[in-house]
Amino acid sequence: MSYYIRRMCREDVDQVTEIDREAFPTMWPPANYERELKVSLAHYITACVDGTATERTGEQKVVGFAGLWMMADEAHITNIAVRHSYQRQGIGEHLLIAMINLAIEQNAHILTLEVRASNTAAQKLYHKYGFTQIAIRRSYYTDNREDALVMTIGNIDGAMFQRRLRRLKKALFRKWG
Ligand SMILES: CC(C)(COP(=O)(O)OP(=O)(O)OC[C@H]1O[C@@H](n2cnc3c(N)ncnc32)[C@H](O)[C@@H]1OP(=O)(O)O)[C@@H](O)C(=O)NCCC(=O)NCCS
Repeated sequence: MSYYIRRMCREDVDQVTEIDREAFPTMWPPANYERELKVSLAHYITACVDGTATERTGEQKVVGFAGLWMMADEAHITNIAVRHSYQRQGIGEHLLIAMINLAIEQNAHILTLEVRASNTAAQKLYHKYGFTQIAIRRSYYTDNREDALVMTIGNIDGAMFQRRLRRLKKALFRKWG
C-alpha cells in the first residue's frame, strides 16, 4: 500500500472524526476537528492512501491523522491515530516523524504529550523516539478516571536527537519502502 502525508483540510474532517471515534470510543463528544483547523496554533496532518481520490468528490481515503498545538517553544501532540485495519504498517510512526518535523519547523524545542497508563502500544512508539515520562496526571481521563502519563523530549532541534531521528527514519523506510 502506498500513502502520503499532507496537511489536514476541511474535506478530511468527516473521515478524521470517524478515525477518532474508532480510536478513542470512550471520549465523548469526539474532538471538533473543523474548529481545530481554524486555530492558528494548531497543526494537523493526515495520511492518505494513494490513488483513492474519487472523481465525484475528489476525496482521498484518510487512514490516519495527528495534531499538535504550539505554545511558545513547546509543541504538544494532541492526537495521533491510525485506522484499525491499517495499524502495524508503520503509518503511526511516519505520522510521529512528520509531527516532529512540523514542530521543529514551528521553532519548538520541546515536544510533550499525554498517554493513557494502559496504552502500552503508543508508549512503546514514544519510547522508541526518546520520549521519557516526566509526570503522572492522576484520574486525568474522565471516562474511566485512568491516569495519564506525561511524556516529553527536549532539544528536538539538537544534533543528538536529529541523529536519532535520521537513523529511525532510515530504518522505517527500509522496512516499509
Ligand atoms: C498508537 C498508534 C497510533 C500506532 O500506530 P501504528 O501505525 O499501528 O504503529 P506503527 O506500525 O507505526 O508502529 C510503530 C511502533 O509503535 C509501537 N507499536 C505500535 N503498535 C503496537 C502494538 N500493538 N504493540 C506493541 N507496540 C506497538 C512499536 O514500537 C512499533 O515499532 P516496531 O514496529 O519497531 O515494533 C495506533 O496503535 C493507534 O492508532 N492507536 C489508537 C489511538 C491511540 O492510542 N493513539 C495514541 C494516543 S496517545
